[in-house]
Amino acid sequence: MFDSRINKSKAWKKLESHCKSMRKVLMRDLFEKDSKRAQKFMESLDDTIILDYSKNRITDKTMSCLMDLARSRHLEEKIKAMFRGDKINITENRAVLHIALRNRENRPIKVNGKDVMADINAVLKKMRQFSEDVRFGKFKGYTGKKLVNIVNIGIGGSDLGPYMATEALRKYWMKGINCYFISNIDGTACAEVLNKVDPETTLFIVASKTFTTIETLTNAKTCRKWLVDALGEPAVSKHFVALSTNAEEVAKFGIDTNNMFEFWDFVGGRYSMWSAIGLSLAIAVGMDNFEKMLEGAFAMDKHFAETELEHNIPVILALLGIWYNNFMGIHRYAVIPYDQYLQYLPSYLQQLDMESNGKFVDVNGDYVSYATGPVLFGGAGTNVQHSFFQLIHQGTEIVPCDFIAPAISHNEIGNHHEILLANVLAQGEALMRGKTVKEAAEELKAAGKSKEEVEFLKKFKSFAGNRPSNMILLKKVDPYSLGALVAMYEHKVFVQGIIWNIDSFDQMGVELGKKLTLNILPELQNASAELKHDSSTNALIKLIRDFRK
Ligand code: F6P
Repeated sequence: MFDSRINKSKAWKKLESHCKSMRKVLMRDLFEKDSKRAQKFMESLDDTIILDYSKNRITDKTMSCLMDLARSRHLEEKIKAMFRGDKINITENRAVLHIALRNRENRPIKVNGKDVMADINAVLKKMRQFSEDVRFGKFKGYTGKKLVNIVNIGIGGSDLGPYMATEALRKYWMKGINCYFISNIDGTACAEVLNKVDPETTLFIVASKTFTTIETLTNAKTCRKWLVDALGEPAVSKHFVALSTNAEEVAKFGIDTNNMFEFWDFVGGRYSMWSAIGLSLAIAVGMDNFEKMLEGAFAMDKHFAETELEHNIPVILALLGIWYNNFMGIHRYAVIPYDQYLQYLPSYLQQLDMESNGKFVDVNGDYVSYATGPVLFGGAGTNVQHSFFQLIHQGTEIVPCDFIAPAISHNEIGNHHEILLANVLAQGEALMRGKTVKEAAEELKAAGKSKEEVEFLKKFKSFAGNRPSNMILLKKVDPYSLGALVAMYEHKVFVQGIIWNIDSFDQMGVELGKKLTLNILPELQNASAELKHDSSTNALIKLIRDFRK
């Protein structure tokens, strides 16, 4: 094991002292001094993704110190270990091989001495066959009708990936096919979808890696009963398929394992949209488009594995995050896609980042003494400009932003897209430059305000600026660029986990709440059950019982 006291290392200390000298440096001055700053801090993956990271509070020295930190954490070796199939998920003793799911060159990757590519390719082939059969009406419902309503039942990684990606690629959906997603245990989620669809034309895809998740199994049971009530028990095999690693539980649930699409424990839930978990997406957009998405992710994988750290997009993004989180004391960031089709990307990334790196114990089992995963939030631009952007511009908290925008829209209606792009560029510029009190006063004067008004308003109208943002420019949101974009964030999260010396691939923090739910459930169902919780929980249970009498 490497030394986990990473914040005592030479590389860390150097960054701490460099950070002191950077506190007062203004980005607007850096831009003025260096006309080539944008070119210097820009990287691209073909013409798919361009990262402009020049609007960050960095200099050449910052980047070189960050690269030293990455090298001191043996990052290049750790990347190789993941791609080799080493068991880097140490708490669960598992390999981490979402990269194998999009290994389009079919390089052998071994787990316990066995090449996993044959199984992966077999499932892709089965997905192709099944998705085409559904799309072209060969696999029909029980009464012989075409299945046109695709309902994915899953939660977390078994929902957010396909949900985000089907929305992102809505323009590629086959005409006549509709996708729905049921995740929340709230009966409303189920009821609202079931109200919209017809049993004869609906395919339910039960997506659960473990096939033990209470939300998914409860929702699946409700949908199964709804179908059986309408069409009878024999209809189930024509309307239910499962995506899982757990054949035993799938069979126990009452889904024929011939109708099961397999994946494996080396695929983490939040890294699984490239696997059978993407079946709803494959049906909506077709397997050719699904595979184009895999190819985009593969291109990013190759870039990540083969590009030197200084020009490596996920590495740069990760190190910028470390710079703010661990040195500038900024423990949050926002992802703002300027594309309506990417509206669910922030929710998807919340799970990816916060479930992976929200950890306080390192891989040696010691408590960390430095910040790990930041808080991530976001939403689609320009909508969020009219909600939380006030705080981003003038609040006391600094929130680094990732802006994501496609140069070309799928819907070039009038001048909508140019207005959208002008907005995203303006936000980055405004955050970086700001507006001094003096500049604000001059503007007010020029607008004809009285001396008193100028004096009173000038601070309200000023912007501190020096607020960081990355611009991630895509040519267009298509299956290939979406794959590359998501893989970029996966690898960014991986790199940060390496720097922080944590296991980014378990999620033990979600277990306590699940366990307590199972204790409380019978107490809600049985009004006379004894309550042994804290006084707040006991009182709330009693109040709920009273309301429900
Ligand atoms: O509760 C967390 C979690 O385990 C996630 O990591 C996972 O994506 C989700 O639940 C769903 O799990 P499953 O696919 O096993 O139903």
